[in-house]
Amino acid sequence: MTDKVRILVVDDELVIRESLHGWLKKSGYQVDTAEGGSAALAMLEKTPYDLLFLDIMMPVMSGIEVLEVVKEDYPQTLVVMITAYGSVDTAVEAMKGGANDYLMKPFDPDQLSLLTEKLMQQKKLLDENIFLREQMAEAIRFENLVGRSEAMQELFSLIQDVAESDSQVLITGETGTGKELVAKAIHAKSARCNGPFIALNCGGFPEHLLESELFGHERGAFTGAHRAKKGRLDLAHHGTLFLDEVGTVPLKMQVDLLRALETKEFHRLGGTAEIEVDFRTIAATNRDLHQAIEKGEFRQDFFYRLNVISLHIPPLRDRRDDIPLLAEHFLDRYSRETNKDIDTINKAAMAILKQYDWPGNVRELENAIERAVVICKKRRLGLEEFSFLAPHLSAAAETHSLEKTQIAHLVKVLKEFDWNITKAAQALEINRVTLHKKIKKYDLRPDRASS
Ligand SMILES: Nc1ncnc2c1ncn2[C@@H]1O[C@H](COP(=O)(O)OP(=O)(O)OP(=O)(O)O)[C@@H](O)[C@H]1O
Ligand SMILES: [Mg+2]
Repeated sequence: MTDKVRILVVDDELVIRESLHGWLKKSGYQVDTAEGGSAALAMLEKTPYDLLFLDIMMPVMSGIEVLEVVKEDYPQTLVVMITAYGSVDTAVEAMKGGANDYLMKPFDPDQLSLLTEKLMQQKKLLDENIFLREQMAEAIRFENLVGRSEAMQELFSLIQDVAESDSQVLITGETGTGKELVAKAIHAKSARCNGPFIALNCGGFPEHLLESELFGHERGAFTGAHRAKKGRLDLAHHGTLFLDEVGTVPLKMQVDLLRALETKEFHRLGGTAEIEVDFRTIAATNRDLHQAIEKGEFRQDFFYRLNVISLHIPPLRDRRDDIPLLAEHFLDRYSRETNKDIDTINKAAMAILKQYDWPGNVRELENAIERAVVICKKRRLGLEEFSFLAPHLSAAAETHSLEKTQIAHLVKVLKEFDWNITKAAQALEINRVTLHKKIKKYDLRPDRASS
């Protein structure tokens, strides 16, 4: 199993880099080295390393700082801290920060290879676990739909039931919630699955064209009708007719359509012959049809005909549990499509995605991920890739994350000076009173400093 294992050794000391490189290479691993944190992070952006040997004490960027970034952006990479004899405390601290193990200088080659082997076993288990989880994920997939929220799970079972019947279905939901995908899922699960799925966007045509799109026309039925044409009702024979944006169908045509849906017979424009068809109708709308009925813009009898069974898809903001799942689903799709090796959305970016309101629902999320993937130059999506969402996010959230950064920095410096306020204040370049105020405001205490 060593043939594909990639290891990165990060240490500012050349001797250490060379010796680790030599030993690991001899054990059959593929090894690269970096002499500092930023170089290492740049390499991680490009290459999926399985394991990192990371020196704790380095100038510029400490190993602990590098560890933080790795845990956030590349959770699949295991990390072993390299520490000098006598500074086990720092190593233990690093383990709390997510390091998988530590290695004490000077090294014993046997210990090194044992440790590496052990960690690679762990990693294999971890990967298998991810694989298992993905398999279990079957339950969160239904045809081309994904969703783990209660609302979506319920919808999946409803679709299953609905598909087994041949009743008319009306799907409601805001734009981009997946109405067309749901209609296709119903068709795919139904007895008509081998027949055609014919979709018509009723809002996409002016009135006279919509009519001929639906019913078809005979040659010479109107100026420009040089030859006969089948309508969608015809084409949907033995299959499913999907009437999208059904709320836009003009009143007069609602009468004709209603008749066709009830009798399963119609005639083409300019024709007299009754054509018999067998199809099931699924209609969709993002309009409140009750309101349209009240306004006299939608016929009640047509509504009842369409609405034998109704399915409602809630907006994405009301089922935020689905956001990470959908985001990863689209990441997978678009990183594959663009041949980019992007496998993670980091925590900070995911928090933003979960918080945003998505007025364009799943379609907007899909577009956001596609856009992020296109501009991304690393192996993970982070806040930079979603900066276009920032103006829409509440100011409160920004303050929140700013505060978090500030708290983390304060705690770090305070710890460095053993909570000596005078020294810490000096290092922070603020006066003691200000520091005291901040400590009080954020309730910072040594015992909860690691949080
Ligand atoms: N649950 C889901 N799982 C995976 N992809 C989804 C899901 N819901 C929507 N999508 C994707 O989001 C996009 C929009 O979906 P769809 O076209 O079905 O929405 P719609 O409700 O018909 O929108 P509109 O009202 O604007 O016509 C599509 O690319 C679809 O594949
Ligand atoms: Mg649609």
